[in-house]
Amino acid sequence: VDEKRLVAILGAGRICARHIKAIRSTGVLDVSWVVSRTPERAAAVAAEHGVAHHATDPAEALADPDVDAVVVAYPTQDHARLTMAAFAAGKDVVCEKPLAWTAEEARAVLAMANARGRRLAVCHIRRYWAPCVRLKELSLRLGALRRVSWNYRAEQHWPEGWRTQPPGGYLLDAHVHDADLLRWLLGRDPVSVYAHGCNRADGGGLLHFLAADGAAASFDWDGAMAGRSYPHHVEHHAEVLGALGWARLTITGEDVSVEHFIDGMDGPLTDHALIADAVAGSWPLMWAAFARYLATGEQPSATAADGAIAVEMILGAVRALESGAIVPLVSD
Ligand SMILES: NC(=O)c1ccc[n+]([C@@H]2O[C@H](COP(=O)([O-])OP(=O)(O)OC[C@H]3O[C@@H](n4cnc5c(N)ncnc54)[C@H](OP(=O)(O)O)[C@@H]3O)[C@@H](O)[C@H]2O)c1
Repeated sequence: VDEKRLVAILGAGRICARHIKAIRSTGVLDVSWVVSRTPERAAAVAAEHGVAHHATDPAEALADPDVDAVVVAYPTQDHARLTMAAFAAGKDVVCEKPLAWTAEEARAVLAMANARGRRLAVCHIRRYWAPCVRLKELSLRLGALRRVSWNYRAEQHWPEGWRTQPPGGYLLDAHVHDADLLRWLLGRDPVSVYAHGCNRADGGGLLHFLAADGAAASFDWDGAMAGRSYPHHVEHHAEVLGALGWARLTITGEDVSVEHFIDGMDGPLTDHALIADAVAGSWPLMWAAFARYLATGEQPSATAADGAIAVEMILGAVRALESGAIVPLVSD
C-alpha cells in the first residue's frame, strides 16, 4: 500500500518540474495532478513526469478526495483566489511566492487559513539556499544587528505580461524574495521604507527599510549588467553588520563564499564549504520542511505570515519608489 500523501499542482509552467522533483524527494509525498490552462501542456507535463491526472480546470483536482495538499503555481494574480478555493475544498496549500497580489488579499488568505484550521506555506526559496542559511547562523552571533544589505546584479530578459503588471510589477515578482530575506536576516520588522529607481527588470534602484530601533536593511538591484545573465549567472553581495562583527556573502554565478569576523571569537574566515549546488539543493530542503509542516504542523522557516509581510514590504517599496515619499509599513 502506498502511504504517500498526494499533492495537486496548479500550474504547469517553468516552476512546475522543480516542485514535482522536490515533492518526490521527500519520500512521503507524491504528485497526483497537474493543472494548466492548455490541455496539451497539462497532458505533456503529466506524461513527462508520470503524474496520474491532468486537467485544465483547478476545480477538478480540488474535487479529488485523495488530494491532501495543493501547490498554487498559477500567475500571482490567481494565488489568493486559488488558495481560498483549495481551503474551501478542505486542502492544505503551498503557495508560490508572492503569497498574493495585494496586501489585502494576503491578509484575507491568512484569515481564511486560520478560520478553517488549514496549513498554508509560501515558497521563499532563498531561506533554503545554503549560503543564506550560513549567513543567518552567523548573524545570530553578531550581537545587536545594525545593518543588512543585499544586492542583485543581472542581465535580465524578463517576460512581460502578468509578471510586470501594477501594482507590484517587476519588483513584486522578482524581489519579494529579497524583502523576505532582508527581514529574516535583520530579525525584526521594518516600520518604513524609502526607495528610488526604476521598477523594470532592466532597471535598477535601491530599497531602504528601517526598523523602529534604527536598524536598516537595504536592497539594491541592477538588471542591465552585461555577462550576468539571469538566472544562472546572477551576482549577489550581502553583508550583515552587528555590534560584534560582520558576515559577508558573495555569489557570482556558480562561485559562492561566506566570510565573517566576530570580535574575540574568530576570523576573518572564509567558508567555501557549504556552497555546492546552493540553489538547486534548496528545493528538496524546502519541500522537506513543507512535508514536515503538512504532517506535523511544525512551521517551515518562511511561514504564511512571513509571506504576507514580504508582500506588504515590497508593495510599500513600490509606493515609495513611485511617490518619492517615506512609506510606513503596518506590522501587527
Ligand atoms: N519560488 C521561486 O523561486 C519561483 C520561481 C519562478 C516562479 N515562481 C512563481 O511560480 C508561479 C508560476 O510561475 P511560472 O514561472 O511557473 O509561470 P509560467 O511559466 O508562466 O506558468 C504559469 C502557469 O499558470 C497557468 N495559467 C493560468 N492562467 C494563466 C494566465 N492568465 N496567464 C498565464 N498563465 C496562466 C499557465 O497555463 P499554460 O500552461 O496553459 O500556459 C501555466 O501552467 C508564479 O507565482 C511565480 O511567481 C516562483
